[in-house]
Amino acid sequence: MTAKLIDGVAVAQKIRDECRERVQRIIAQGGTPPGLAVIIVGSDPASQIYVRNKIRACANVGIKSFRFDYPADVSQDTVIDQIMQLNDDPAVHGILVQLPLPPTFDMSRILHSISADKDVDGFHLYNVGGLVVGGTVFPPCTPYGVLKLLEHEHITLEGKNVVVVGASNIVGKPMALMLMQHEATVCICHAKTRDLAQFTILADILVVAAGYPNLIQPEMVRTGAVVIDVGINRLSDGQLVGDVNFAGVVAKASYITPVPGGVGPMTVSMLLVNTITSCERWQQQNFVPIVKKFSSARAAT
Ligand code: GUN
Repeated sequence: MTAKLIDGVAVAQKIRDECRERVQRIIAQGGTPPGLAVIIVGSDPASQIYVRNKIRACANVGIKSFRFDYPADVSQDTVIDQIMQLNDDPAVHGILVQLPLPPTFDMSRILHSISADKDVDGFHLYNVGGLVVGGTVFPPCTPYGVLKLLEHEHITLEGKNVVVVGASNIVGKPMALMLMQHEATVCICHAKTRDLAQFTILADILVVAAGYPNLIQPEMVRTGAVVIDVGINRLSDGQLVGDVNFAGVVAKASYITPVPGGVGPMTVSMLLVNTITSCERWQQQNFVPIVKKFSSARAAT
């Protein structure tokens, strides 16, 4: 068996084309164009590249972007003051703080100062809670992108054994919750899992987001499984690889995502989708901000 390659670049491009049309519709109806604020603290080279790609993608579909760069030694209060201003800015519908933050930062404090109504990363507690109870305003971008790839390939989830390797707040945990919502049987493995292979071998669909090159070897994968590689690792020779031994597993799986060109481009496309959704939400006639819903039971009805 040779797996079909899932072309994340093509699917991401199709979603961006749809995004462009949605933005044009908002403007044609006299609405404010979507705006995304991106905050980056420090000079982590990978983060600089990710932010540059996000800003470029915004321009490509007609989303306005507002970039704020801070040195690593900026005070947390300065960043929070900036977020508070953006929370009140009607031209801004999405706010993203690029992670990781410098180690001196209290990440939760920063992320929870973003209005839940502009939390296009889906990291705010309200949106995380929405995932738990089924339904969130902003699904986190990477797992949302994985679901879109599966949907594009008509790979159903109901009743499937799905094993998620990696339990991060950004990918593994929200991924598992979203898969459960689609009635998959979900198993989450992580850095402390003993004998990882005894779990991965059971997977109809294996989602790997652990951050270790070559973690998943062919003997750990069931013949015909769908393998989604979320890992992005830079080897010492400069090569970019995922967490899966691609050359080995491609001969055993039914579908596989390449790295690069699989999940990566989807993350940015889903950020665009969330930003446009936010913009549309803010411009709905009966829009009630989340914070108001909770301060007034009447407003929620
Ligand atoms: N760093 C790595 N992935 C992400 C992401 O999805 N959002 C943000 N804000 N930072 C990240």
